[in-house]
Amino acid sequence: MCLHSNHTQTMIKDAWKQKGYIDEPIPEGLDLKKAIRRLCEEKHAIILAHYYTEGDIQDVADYVGDSLGLAQQAAKTDARIIMMCGVHFMGETNAILCPDKKVLVPDLTATCSLAESCPADEFARFVKAHPGHRVISYVNTSAAVKALTDVVVTSGNARRIVDSFDKDAKLIFGPDRNLGSYLNALTGRQMVLWPGACHVHERFSVEKLVALKQQHPEAKVLVHPECKGAVVKLADVVGSTAALLDFACRDEGNTFLVVTESGILHEMQKRCPGKTFIPVPPDDSTCGCNECNYMRLCTLPKVYLSLLHEWPVVSVDPEVARAALRPIERMLELSKK
Ligand code: 13P
Repeated sequence: MCLHSNHTQTMIKDAWKQKGYIDEPIPEGLDLKKAIRRLCEEKHAIILAHYYTEGDIQDVADYVGDSLGLAQQAAKTDARIIMMCGVHFMGETNAILCPDKKVLVPDLTATCSLAESCPADEFARFVKAHPGHRVISYVNTSAAVKALTDVVVTSGNARRIVDSFDKDAKLIFGPDRNLGSYLNALTGRQMVLWPGACHVHERFSVEKLVALKQQHPEAKVLVHPECKGAVVKLADVVGSTAALLDFACRDEGNTFLVVTESGILHEMQKRCPGKTFIPVPPDDSTCGCNECNYMRLCTLPKVYLSLLHEWPVVSVDPEVARAALRPIERMLELSKK
């Protein structure tokens, strides 16, 4: 039974829209994780979560993964609702891949600094200024940027996809200049780079990492390729979140310095309880983890309320979605084993 009049309901929804998320009080004593799982069953919903979300969210999800894994899961699910626990571009990618499904994100304001660093109109001018170039875009972009792209990549498949182009092909890579430089060095190419960066990975410094290496000389260094080149040079392994996790589980080492968003430590500790994972702090702090404030906008109460009310729904302009679908599908095709 609804306790509110139609007028009050409209006012409540307007307030949600302004905030970008639902902030109703949660009933006292409610076991949120159980309630979320119950809603998933009732509504035929699936929860996908990125490794950077908080541990409670990862624990309640049906699937936890890196950006590539999340897109692959979305592409094959038969659920009616996809609850994307991560940031907005991940919801957009799912909405583009699954136009017949309802894609929810718990907080519409959960953006991504990389996606924000590449406005579509400026990127369009950049592409136009480089005639004859093919365009490779990192998945951390808006749907409108993907629509200007030949093929999308994630950190998990970027090398393979760059290698799939002719050796003499002229290429643009955007928006992450660090990942782009890393790929140029790996492949011997000279892709033209868009000057964007991730605000989390840019905060790692050589000084902090070297200091920790001195304290833990036995530790192996796990680095995400969105980090600056000087940090990447200190790595024992460079890879996507899934690749770093996989390496840590398989490696005979016992201690690891983790140079990526600290949410990944949850799954690392879960899968390898006997090993020690040390988060490398950001440059500008004396202690603490390097967390993405946008990923942290995704909380259990918001997931519960979003599933309950089936809002906020991620929507993409149909024309943009049509143009963005091809480069995403191309990525999925090129990522098959
Ligand atoms: P991966 O999930 O591909 O490791 O990339 C991390 C990231 O930047 C997510 O926004």
